[in-house]
Amino acid sequence: MISFIHVSKKYEKDWKALQDVHFRLDRGEFVFLTGPSGAGKTTVLKMIYMDERPDIGEVLISFNKDLAYRSAETSMSKIQMLRRRLGIVFQDFKLLPDRNIFENVAFALRVAGYSSKRLKHRVYEVLTLTGISHKAKNMPHQLSGGEQQRVSIARAMANEPYIILADEPTGNLDPQTSAEIVKIFQNINASGTAVLMATHDFGLINSLPYRRLMLNRGTLVNRDFI
Ligand SMILES: Nc1ncnc2c1ncn2[C@@H]1O[C@H](COP(=O)(O)OP(=O)(O)OP(=O)(O)O)[C@@H](O)[C@H]1O
Ligand SMILES: [Mg+2]
Repeated sequence: MISFIHVSKKYEKDWKALQDVHFRLDRGEFVFLTGPSGAGKTTVLKMIYMDERPDIGEVLISFNKDLAYRSAETSMSKIQMLRRRLGIVFQDFKLLPDRNIFENVAFALRVAGYSSKRLKHRVYEVLTLTGISHKAKNMPHQLSGGEQQRVSIARAMANEPYIILADEPTGNLDPQTSAEIVKIFQNINASGTAVLMATHDFGLINSLPYRRLMLNRGTLVNRDFI
């Protein structure tokens, strides 16, 4: 579904953020992207949602035969179509502070042209999936960090993405809340959505059976599974 073909990337003259990164992620997989700070995790995720591009190599994304993207693509409308098929979750939630929880999730669907009845149904469906529908009328600042992350995962799921890309989604959360958030990703994955989660929290991932892509200074260090 997603292939990195010998991808290298430099942000500045000599500093290679990624070096010859080569891997494949299949439909429905759950994969952890790990490695120390500065290793290149966020850069990998940005390349999937095409916020960054390789200098060398290529990123290929293919959901089905009619929905395929290459990192050489430059048309903004095509990139926006791709992003609608991805669910993106950030460490700092990125909720709209002046809209309530319902509206934060509805926002993504309005852009996609949902009717109001279908929209309401879908918003409650995803808020229920992440266990936060009882706070639909609240504002983001009235929620704890863990609750805000539940909302941001609901928002990411609203458009029925093929994959969730999560960048340190538990980085601001305590261990118990982090485990609850990972459980939500596991449930999402069990229903068929792929999950790629960047984290350097080894305590969290060591007990879980999923494949790991480990980066160190821009290089993939565990290549055994490719
Ligand atoms: N926009 C940018 N301009 C210049 N250098 C950048 C930029 N973004 C990232 N880098 C550099 O590229 C390298 C990889 O950064 P990246 O953000 O992908 O790492 P990371 O693994 O996500 O780190 P962290 O765990 O701290 O989030 C780092 O050395 C970083 O300083
Ligand atoms: Mg990062």
